[in-house]
Amino acid sequence: MSDKLKVGILGGTGMVGQRFISLLENHPWFEVTTIAASPRSAGKKYVEAVGDRWKMDTPMPEKVKDIVVMNVNEVEAVASQVDFVFSAVDMSKDEIRAIEEAYAKTETPVVSNNSAHRWTPDVPMIIPEINDSHTDVIEFQKKRLGTTKGFIAVKPNCSIQSYAPVLYAWREFEPYEVVATTYQAISGAGKTFKDWPEMVGNIIPYIGGEEEKSEQEPLRVFGKVENGVIVKAEEPKITCQCIRVPVLNGHTAAVFVKFRKKPTKEQLIEKLESYSGAPQALKLPSAPKQFMRYMTEDNRPQVTEDVNYENGMGISIGRIREDSIYDYKFVGLSHNTVRGAAGGAVLCAELLKAKGFITKK
Ligand SMILES: NC(=O)c1ccc[n+]([C@@H]2O[C@H](COP(=O)([O-])OP(=O)(O)OC[C@H]3O[C@@H](n4cnc5c(N)ncnc54)[C@H](OP(=O)(O)O)[C@@H]3O)[C@@H](O)[C@H]2O)c1
Repeated sequence: MSDKLKVGILGGTGMVGQRFISLLENHPWFEVTTIAASPRSAGKKYVEAVGDRWKMDTPMPEKVKDIVVMNVNEVEAVASQVDFVFSAVDMSKDEIRAIEEAYAKTETPVVSNNSAHRWTPDVPMIIPEINDSHTDVIEFQKKRLGTTKGFIAVKPNCSIQSYAPVLYAWREFEPYEVVATTYQAISGAGKTFKDWPEMVGNIIPYIGGEEEKSEQEPLRVFGKVENGVIVKAEEPKITCQCIRVPVLNGHTAAVFVKFRKKPTKEQLIEKLESYSGAPQALKLPSAPKQFMRYMTEDNRPQVTEDVNYENGMGISIGRIREDSIYDYKFVGLSHNTVRGAAGGAVLCAELLKAKGFITKK
């Protein structure tokens, strides 16, 4: 029998679910044994349930094709087959909140891509390189849920990944005011150009709910654990506009920053390039060797050239320069469905396994 942990993918037929299945194809610690989706897909083989909806560049892994898809709502049945689950279902927030808690209460850890629990006070929202210490709230969450092994951990929104780690790497210079504009790929809406032809050559200046997440979520990631809950940071104040652009994969952010202790450009670059966190120290399987790189060319980072840096888990930064109103401005790029969604969640699960929170049942 395999020593790998048995994983279920809730919402495995969707775009993020497919990304989980692709990323986990040859994972050294985790093996996808169970896939669950809506009642529409339940009872069908995975290959049939997905049909012509496979959106990955690589072929569907052979190992999952014949897995019979289960109904996400049959919590006990799904949970009994796995050691933990990744959640990428698309349901209402209330339904997701309830179903993720129901899985946790069956003693099944849930690592979620969804936003439903991002502000639940005792649920950690983790970028593993930044706030791995937020796992300290899990013991308080378990007390609330009445569980010994079951809990929920989440990853933050894809839009913040191109600038929040950068601001964190610069924290000793005390950034206090930030203006960001994000240029977000269509895969962030679960779409390709085939199913969203209106996006070809187009820009849409609205992504529902995204600006608030982009302004607030970094503060929770930068926050600290106090009395069993996460208290968000007060600074930097962030204001953000989120724009949908005709790009398949890759969110770009153009950002202006004011610092209390204004650094030199060389200091800013040095802080980015020397930054590393728990995933690098623990040598987690999906950890990028270098989390953030600085590109000196004036025309980088570019989506087509740079989005797959470090297998889509690294962040590319360029164009740091002084500004006439703010102190500095820069451009950041990250892969929205890898670092920003499934890859970020896989790294989070690796961190939780390495710290002993996820074990065999
Ligand atoms: N795309 C991204 O980059 C991204 C990034 C961050 C967060 N998210 C979030 O992640 C979630 C999934 O996104 P996605 O783009 O993968 O969506 P998607 O492609 O529409 O997939 C949705 C998944 O949820 C299942 N589902 C839908 N309605 C359901 C129901 N009533 N009961 C049970 N299962 C149901 C679907 O099953 P069927 O196939 O059977 O319908 C499918 O497996 C969403 O909440 C989204 O907001 C997405």
